[in-house]
Amino acid sequence: MILVTGGAGFIGSNFVLEWIAGEKSPLVNLDKLTYAGNPDNLATLKNDARHVFVRGDIADRALMADLLERHRPTAIVHFAAESHVDRSIHGPADFVQTNVVGTFNLLESARAYWSALAAPEQARFRFVHVSTDEVYGSLSADDLPFSESSPYAPNSPYAASKAAADHWARAWHHTYGLPVIVTNCSNNYGPYQFPEKLIPLMTINALQGKPLPVYGDGGNVRDWLHVADHCAALRRVLAKGTLGATYNIGGGTEKNNLEVVTAICTIMDELRPAAAPHSKLIAFVKDRAGHDRRYAIDSTKIQRELGWQPARKFEDGLRRTVQWYCDHGSWIDHVTSGAYRDWMDTNYRDRETGNSK
Ligand code: NAD
Ligand code: TYD
Repeated sequence: MILVTGGAGFIGSNFVLEWIAGEKSPLVNLDKLTYAGNPDNLATLKNDARHVFVRGDIADRALMADLLERHRPTAIVHFAAESHVDRSIHGPADFVQTNVVGTFNLLESARAYWSALAAPEQARFRFVHVSTDEVYGSLSADDLPFSESSPYAPNSPYAASKAAADHWARAWHHTYGLPVIVTNCSNNYGPYQFPEKLIPLMTINALQGKPLPVYGDGGNVRDWLHVADHCAALRRVLAKGTLGATYNIGGGTEKNNLEVVTAICTIMDELRPAAAPHSKLIAFVKDRAGHDRRYAIDSTKIQRELGWQPARKFEDGLRRTVQWYCDHGSWIDHVTSGAYRDWMDTNYRDRETGNSK
């Protein structure tokens, strides 16, 4: 039995679905179901007794103590977070509460449970803390990619909250011996991603004939990692990772935003030729405040030590992802509810769309 937090979100639900499909052991999935938590992602597990879903907050110590005592997991994989940079700019308080205070409470709950285990169970237990490359700050065009020894320099409220959480997790290993492993990964893409993030937002807007709002000059670079490759890396870390270590996980695919949006338009032209060219929808809008220019990950350590490497090529992964959103109209309809429309109004109202380039 393992316990996953945030398993109704994008990466967490992909991890849960793959775990149940590929492993014999059951899984407890604790998720608060914020706007980003979507039970639809887990619909195929409805009648599967190996998936125990619990709605709750990672900061709720009484709930966590009860869950850990009753289910006695051999590991916690911690995905739960507020995860969107633009939202952190509009409202940072939730990021402090969940990412910092929530992670602190979860570490304390895990420590209380782990301390009381018998020696063999203690030796077996793992706490995998899932984090981001954004804690390392921003690279310029000719900088080397981030390695595990790159200094922390978080620029957004989101990145600062994740950096704080990483430090808590590391310190719980160093001070208390809690068997923590931290992972820092690059931008994920794939099915079930909430359409506030670049790839699903652009795909769904293209499908609906809406503007494709590219921030600034579209030259910001991200290192794209398919979510299935990320989940495979996390399973390796869980099985073989060194206690107290950090592993960087990246796709090795650097693309600027305009390249990504243009590639989505090209795929959409093939899938929906009547609406071609979708590139006419591209609209350059006001830049994000403090927008990090470039992220890139050096994954040499996890490749060398744990034998992991990304299996999916970006071009193929993107095509399948765009196809997935095109094929899942009712998932999109559910996700783009009233709360989603309020967010689109808040974030894009003062970005003034218009094809100035
Ligand atoms: P997401 O926003 O899609 O999902 C987050 C999930 O956490 C949701 O289901 C939400 O309901 C749940 N949650 C939020 N607050 C909670 C709380 N207090 N208690 C319990 N559950 C809570 O996020 P994601 O994209 O799946 O990211 C998962 C993790 O991976 C996060 O820690 C994020 O920082 C990290 N990460 C994501 C990316 C990416 O590209 N998506 C890249 C690097 C790192
Ligand atoms: P996002 O998916 O929010 O991830 P992150 O900020 O964590 O990297 O954004 C990815 C890139 O796409 C980032 O450089 C901001 C840019 N972007 C746009 O240009 N337009 C948009 O509407 C969004 C949501 C993002």
